[in-house]
Amino acid sequence: MSQPTVYSPSPEFVRNANVQGMEGYLELYRRAEQNPEEFWGEVAGQEIHWFEKWSHVLEWQPPFARWFVGAKINASYNCLDRHIATHRKNKVAILWEGEPGEQRFITYQELHRLVSRFASVLKNRGYQTGDRAIIYMPMIPELPIAMLACARLGIIHSVVFGGFSSEALKARVQDLGASVVITADGGYRRGKEVKLKPAVDEAMAECPSVRDVIVYRRTGSEITMQAGRDLWWHELDATASEDCPAVPLDSEHPLFVLYTSGTTGKPKGILHTTGGYLTQTTASMKWIFDLKDEDTYWCSADIGWVTGHTYIVYGPLSAGATTVIYEGSPDYPQFDRWWRIVEKYRVNTLYTSPTAIRALLRQGEQWPKMHDLSSLRLLGSVGEPINPAAWEWYHRVIGKARCPIVDTWWQTETGSTMIAPMPGAVPQKPGSGTLPLPGVVPDIVDLNGKEVGPEREGFLIIRRPWPGMIRTIWGDPERFKEQYWSRVPGAYFTGDAARRDHDGYYWVLGRVDDVMNVSGHRLSTMEVESALVRHPAVAEAAVVGKPHEITGQAVCCFVTLKQGDFNRDQLGKDLRQWVAHEIGTFARPEEIRFTEALPKTRSGKIMRRLLREIVTTNTVSGDVTTLEDLSVVTRLASQHDED
Ligand code: PRX
Repeated sequence: MSQPTVYSPSPEFVRNANVQGMEGYLELYRRAEQNPEEFWGEVAGQEIHWFEKWSHVLEWQPPFARWFVGAKINASYNCLDRHIATHRKNKVAILWEGEPGEQRFITYQELHRLVSRFASVLKNRGYQTGDRAIIYMPMIPELPIAMLACARLGIIHSVVFGGFSSEALKARVQDLGASVVITADGGYRRGKEVKLKPAVDEAMAECPSVRDVIVYRRTGSEITMQAGRDLWWHELDATASEDCPAVPLDSEHPLFVLYTSGTTGKPKGILHTTGGYLTQTTASMKWIFDLKDEDTYWCSADIGWVTGHTYIVYGPLSAGATTVIYEGSPDYPQFDRWWRIVEKYRVNTLYTSPTAIRALLRQGEQWPKMHDLSSLRLLGSVGEPINPAAWEWYHRVIGKARCPIVDTWWQTETGSTMIAPMPGAVPQKPGSGTLPLPGVVPDIVDLNGKEVGPEREGFLIIRRPWPGMIRTIWGDPERFKEQYWSRVPGAYFTGDAARRDHDGYYWVLGRVDDVMNVSGHRLSTMEVESALVRHPAVAEAAVVGKPHEITGQAVCCFVTLKQGDFNRDQLGKDLRQWVAHEIGTFARPEEIRFTEALPKTRSGKIMRRLLREIVTTNTVSGDVTTLEDLSVVTRLASQHDED
């Protein structure tokens, strides 16, 4: 294997960095390793405001952890109130640009006012600590405002990505037993309105737990408001009080539940609590983004995913940063939109996904070249492995060979970044997340839980509890134990394969389970299969991820049909649309292949490994002796371009 190029930060970057040089990193890492509780206690004391301090840092009854036991905290207070008592009072907290071009510069003081008003609205409607709210909104400031208002009162929020369908929304409202839904008429994407309210209306028919649907007017388009259930945000806001103090909550009070795909058809509600999550989120913000008070920081993710929770809302605001939020798509009205934003606001840090980088790379260098990107000093990548070619392009064309790139490995479950280079300390290798952050103890093991040597592929696990870790799966502690803690005793199982090189650098290779990663969005094969078999024409379905040049993976479905006369062209289109309706447009399959039968083992399990091989190489090798019907495989392999 050829040796990857190593990129070291410039001496100037190191000199100004929050953590300087390898020695700086190693010193922190060792301290955390030797005495993790003391280390995290120190970090929590420095980075976070506590109404009352903890009696002890960690209570660990595997796999259940409690961090900062007995302490009192409020996340909204940490993101707002503590800053308005400082020089940050009139600093821009949220710098927003709508897709049609509107701008809003919301200072910390103003954000505090807006959040307090909306928290008062919720309080006046009778919502209180422990209630659950679903937030289904476009990328407008009212989305973080709703989150912070919930957090202010201890209402547990669950943000549902605006690209999810009414079916997905309904499942989440029901699982969470939410009593309020906060939404908008719609938002803008690619020059068109994406309506949200009709999906809410459809879902509400089967959501008896919901008392109120609060609707923010973003686009002003025609929507239906149901009397007795639907309320306009602006009408409630008109009489709202600005005095709504943050409620001191237990450190382990749930902050949010975020649904993500697992290996079954049912999404898992990942539960995060307050004290530990906020501590690690705030610290990692400063470590990986080398955050400075004067930075303009932009994470291009959607707030509906964990990246947006941690690195658009809670991390930057808790750290007192200016966080840029852009509502729309990178290619509207043309492919230089992002670079235009960087130039206009003099963005210093850009954090995005390999899929976005590849999509922009494909459009050519002329787009970034149209703009002055000299304000950038740091770049980040998240969500999926980044291929070295995309890394190099990002580094050369966007970062002008000047900006370190932080490739950050983490998951919805981990809460914040676990493996990433501290940019002024750790030299980067394209495609590697490099080294674990302080307090994170990963390992790579074989099937028996035994550590594998350097350069060997194995399962990525985390050996020690960390403050921002998932606490449980909402309503399903058994699944939590089984999914994450049953494979390697005492350790957290990430579901990723990885190897460690001779320098101890981690290279995450991808999922080892039936989870696909499409454009950095997690999607379970089973979720798509369950959606497909709900269609009246479908008998059976098997879904696999197919390598894709831009999105990393694409959804490829093998489908057997019930008896009947079907127009396959039309049905292929219908099924794609069906999946988009059942889950969301981002899950729309790239390919539907109709087949007579699916390859199965004698016990009836679909052999996805074979299907993966077919879509990857269009050939089949390896052990197929357990197949029920070998001819099926050959037929599948030979018809790859039919659809
Ligand atoms: O497979 C890993 C991949 O994304 C998974 C987590 O997905 P999700 O919970 O949706 O969170 C995405 C954003 C944090 C991981 O199990 N993944 C995430 N970041 C990287 C990555 N794979 C390689 N390199 C990364 N930097």
